[in-house]
Amino acid sequence: MTECLLAIDQGTTSSRAILFDRLGHPLATSQQEFTQYFPHDGWVEHDGEQIWQSTLSVCRQAIRDSGISPGQIAGIGITNQRETTLLWDACTGELLHRAIVWQDRRTADFCEQLRRAGHEPLISERTGLLIDPYFSGTKLRWLLDNVPDARQRAERGELRFGTVDCFLLWRLSGGKVHRTDASNASRTLLFNIHSQQWDPDLLQLLDIPASLLPEVMDCAAHFGETDPELFGSAIPICAMAGDQQAALVGQACFSPGMVKSTYGTGCFMVMNTGSQPVTSSNRLLTTVAYRLDGQVTYALEGSIFVAGAAVQWLRDGLKLIQHAGETEALAQQADEHSGVYLVPAFTGLGAPYWDPQARGAIFGLTRDTGIAEIVSAGLQSVCFQTRDLLEAMTADGAHATAALRVDGGMVVNNWVVQSLANILGVPVERPQITETTALGVAYLAGLQCGLFDSLEQIAAHWRCQHSFSPQMDAERRESLYQGWREAVQRVRSQHD
Ligand code: G3P
Repeated sequence: MTECLLAIDQGTTSSRAILFDRLGHPLATSQQEFTQYFPHDGWVEHDGEQIWQSTLSVCRQAIRDSGISPGQIAGIGITNQRETTLLWDACTGELLHRAIVWQDRRTADFCEQLRRAGHEPLISERTGLLIDPYFSGTKLRWLLDNVPDARQRAERGELRFGTVDCFLLWRLSGGKVHRTDASNASRTLLFNIHSQQWDPDLLQLLDIPASLLPEVMDCAAHFGETDPELFGSAIPICAMAGDQQAALVGQACFSPGMVKSTYGTGCFMVMNTGSQPVTSSNRLLTTVAYRLDGQVTYALEGSIFVAGAAVQWLRDGLKLIQHAGETEALAQQADEHSGVYLVPAFTGLGAPYWDPQARGAIFGLTRDTGIAEIVSAGLQSVCFQTRDLLEAMTADGAHATAALRVDGGMVVNNWVVQSLANILGVPVERPQITETTALGVAYLAGLQCGLFDSLEQIAAHWRCQHSFSPQMDAERRESLYQGWREAVQRVRSQHD
């Protein structure tokens, strides 16, 4: 049996492990959901112990199901929900609090104070990000200020901070290794994306002791080894990357201008901008796509908080459908001239609006609006939001996109992908392997342990399963999109 790669994909709603062979074909997959905690309006937490236990259990299950022995695994890659913040005791490994999830808005007031005090230009210049509760820095500060004794213990050097990648590495290595990678570090609000160091001025501004922070590595590197007790033998951990960056690698978007969009709970569009960070004038994020052999590749990113979550709401909130799979047939039946728009700003609007106070709405209802029209408006909202991001990228000087590569749970829906092509006016490509996040980090691990020689070799593995060409005339496309823009203006708390 040839050597395999084990990808851990620790996401917002589930932990997954996928074993890939050396050609990138999945051999076994295991997945476990875990509890979402909503202790207050706008707060979202995960139990770090559940994150750990579910991850360990899916790894063991995938290894068992594949029938290979742990000794045949050449390396592990870890990819993860980004920004989610954990704090633990350096000696005992005990977590001080539940993880504060990326979606959590508890630090909105503190972010507003920072903005009012005029700190956004400095923070944006150093980190490529904006001041928003989304990122880890203000969440970590909240933990230090609100968990009894946390600040004193942190100042005595007794605690460790990490995003999920870093926490899993700590646990997998038996508490020996405290490291993260540059793509995850670039989402913390504490990392200088130009110098590739934790930024002392930002640490001071947010009052974060440096002793809490992990060492920042390349995305493909020798991060450590698993404690032999976990899987029966020590397995090297060879790669780490945030999930959206890993998907960029899995989609083989290695040249400047190549762009992918992942449709999970939210939607994250990431464009490779090459070795130069591009500063957005349109409220997109500048972020580390990947760092290999010390060379940084940057990306522009548009983050939308609600994509698949809109379909969940149609199912669980409105109970219009029983399964997400029903939406394709319903959308096909809908009156395509209904003029119904659904703006799913349930927790505010992400890029390019960044309006945490906006709330969702449905517009254009008439006596003959039915379930099909509302469902199709929900699906189309994802396409319109993608167009918002592409418009912002183009306004930031990105070259016209030749094609958008898509992945994530929603892209099994042909109607969604065709609408996306229609509304963007560019071809949309769905790859053969849509597990691009896990595949991407497996590729990175393969680079480190010598199963792959280069990004070019990886790119040669990418295969298009179906390319959707735009099938809508330009006039209709623009008038539909104009209707969306007007709907968004009506839900915003501030107007441009
Ligand atoms: O930035 C948040 C993102 O990394 C979450 O991704 O796939 O877990 O919803 P996902």
